[in-house]
This record gives sequence, C-alpha cells and structure tokens, in this order.
Amino acid sequence: MATSLFYVLICLLVLVVTKLPFVVETRRLAHPKTQYSNFLTDLEGLSKGQTAKGIPELRHYLKRYGYLNNEYSRDDNNEELYDEVLESAVKLYQTFFKLNVTGKLDSETIKVMSKPRCGVADNPVQVLSKRKLKEEAVDGTQQHNFINIVEDYAFFEGKPKWPYTQIRYRVDSGIQYPEGINETQFKTALEITGIVYTENCVLQIEEALEGHPPDVRTGFYRGDHGDGYPFAASTLGHAFSPTDGRMHFNADQDFSINDPIGPNQYDLVWTVMHEFGHVLGLAHTQVGNAIMYPTADPGVMKRYLSEDDIQGITTLYPWPPF
Ligand SMILES: *[C@@H]1O[C@H](CO)[C@@H](O)[C@H](O)[C@H]1NC(C)=O
Ligand SMILES: *[C@@H]1O[C@H](CO)[C@@H](O)[C@H](O)[C@H]1NC(C)=O
Ligand SMILES: [Zn+2]
Ligand SMILES: [Zn+2]
Repeated sequence: MATSLFYVLICLLVLVVTKLPFVVETRRLAHPKTQYSNFLTDLEGLSKGQTAKGIPELRHYLKRYGYLNNEYSRDDNNEELYDEVLESAVKLYQTFFKLNVTGKLDSETIKVMSKPRCGVADNPVQVLSKRKLKEEAVDGTQQHNFINIVEDYAFFEGKPKWPYTQIRYRVDSGIQYPEGINETQFKTALEITGIVYTENCVLQIEEALEGHPPDVRTGFYRGDHGDGYPFAASTLGHAFSPTDGRMHFNADQDFSINDPIGPNQYDLVWTVMHEFGHVLGLAHTQVGNAIMYPTADPGVMKRYLSEDDIQGITTLYPWPPF
C-alpha cells in the first residue's frame, strides 16, 4: 500500500518533486563504500550548462533522496548535461542542508552528498514550506520570543502512527551480522533505544516476549534484500513508516556500539535510534543535532533525543492529560 511506504514523497509546490517510489538499484560495486564519493569527486565545481560523466549518477542520487521527480529524464539523449531541472534539484538540496544556495556543485555540497546517510528519502518540500510559514508568522507578529522557529520535526504523508503505545520489537532470525557486531551488541543498541524513547514520550518500547507477535521486526541485510529498496553503499539503514514495522541495517557498514567509537566507525546506537524514529512515524528534519537528521558522521556518538525529536514524537503521541 502506498501509504505504508514512506519512500513516497508528495509534492504540491515544486515542479521537480512528485509522488515517487524508491529507485531500484541493480548494480553492486566491488568497493561499495566509495560508490558515491567516486562520482561526486569528478563533479566538484560543476554548474548549469556544463557536462560530465557523473551527471546521470547525480540525477539518480537526487531522485533517490526526494529532490528530483523520479520520472524526469532528458528526451534528447544528453544525459550528461547539467540542465536547469537538475540545478533546481541541487538548489532544493542545498536549501534543505542549509548550504549556500548556489546551484553549483561546490565543495561543501559535495562534502554533504558524500556522507553516509539513511536510505529513507528526505521530505524537502514539507520541511521547507513549514519553515516558511513559521518565518512569515514571526514577521507578521513580531513576537519572536513566542515562536520556536528552530522546531522542524516532520512526519510522513498522512501522519501514520501506531494506534497503541506499547511497541514490541524482535530481531529477525537467521541474519548475518556485520564484522564487529554480534547479536548481543545489536540487542544492547535496541535496548538503549527503547529506554531513551520510553523516557522521553508516552511510548513503551521493549523486546517482544517469546510467543508474542512483535510490532517491529529488525535485522542486518546486504544490498538487494528483497523489500524493493536495495541498500546503496552509503546507506546506513532504512525503515518503513507505521504500522509496517520493518527496520533494516546495512551489514556492509562499519558499525560499533563501543564508547569511544573508532574514527571511521558509525555509532550503531545512533543509527538504531534514527531508524526507530521512522518506525514510530518521524521523518527527516533539518536540525543538525537531531536524531532524525538524515546524514551521519564517522567517529561521532549521538545517543540522546534532541528537543526537535522530542517535540516531534510527543506531538505524534501526546502525553495523556493529567
Ligand atoms: C557560504 O558562502 C560564504 C561566502 O562565500 C562562505 O564564507 C561560507 O563558508 C559558505 N558556507 C557554506 C556552508 O558553504
Ligand atoms: C559479542 O561481542 C562482545 C564484544 O566483542 C563480546 O564481549 C561478547 O562475548 C560477544 N557475545 C557473543 C554472544 O558472542
Ligand atoms: Zn532516516
Ligand atoms: Zn530493507
């Protein structure tokens, strides 16, 4: 069902965005971790009107993450041209990531695009139109102190959520763990995630008891793993919106739950907390310190919910009245 997949983006305002299913990738590379950085390095400095071999891949990347209409293609076989439509998509990307909106592939833009990230598409139109409304409200009332313009949390189209507050998860059986992570460590990351959400909102998140059907099913997977959304090399994980309950992590990534974490490793606890946010109904935010920010940095641990995450989750699942 379309509403159960949040890889779908609805757009009402911008030409380049429409309702898109996730792009299915069939290609696997020998050195998957360099897939995106390779084509991006060659594109640095490029702007509208120029051509480059990496442009089709850039177009693919922007489609995959919600910045370009999935159906868009050039009808003149000039796939390597940095055209106007691609420039608007790059500008939308730069706006979402709070970069200078130049439409040019400057080094800052390339740097952000090269980062490993969540496989779930962003929702730039929803996030940016909400921000605009807020800024107009501030301008109109002059009451800057009373309007929180940093709050940016977002939900999936139609605001899907669980109809109850006790959410039970279970680790899929027969999965292959990545190097350096075993089942005990994965369960620790899930347990920490459950505790953090349970402390900050009305939900109670725990492992499903034996014999009880779980709401959330989770595990590590590689590449094309049968749900229609193959992992790209730079994907950390992905999850489906409520009430699907599937939450997957990329077994080809270098994850760790150690404190401190290695300089090239990704914090598995952070990643689990992020994907669980999707499972509960949160979409990506523009707030850099939020768990629901789409990209991750190696060597960095993030194991708390930001104010933005907490406002999002308590808006979706309000505390009962006293
Ligand atoms: C934006 O442009 C200004 C002026 O050129 C520069 O100083 C700044 O570092 C740029 N910021 C980003 C995020 O690229
Ligand atoms: C999982 O890995 C940790 C850390 O290396 C280790 O201490 C623990 O014994 C392992 N658990 C199992 C069940 O292999
Ligand atoms: Zn995400
Ligand atoms: Zn999956």
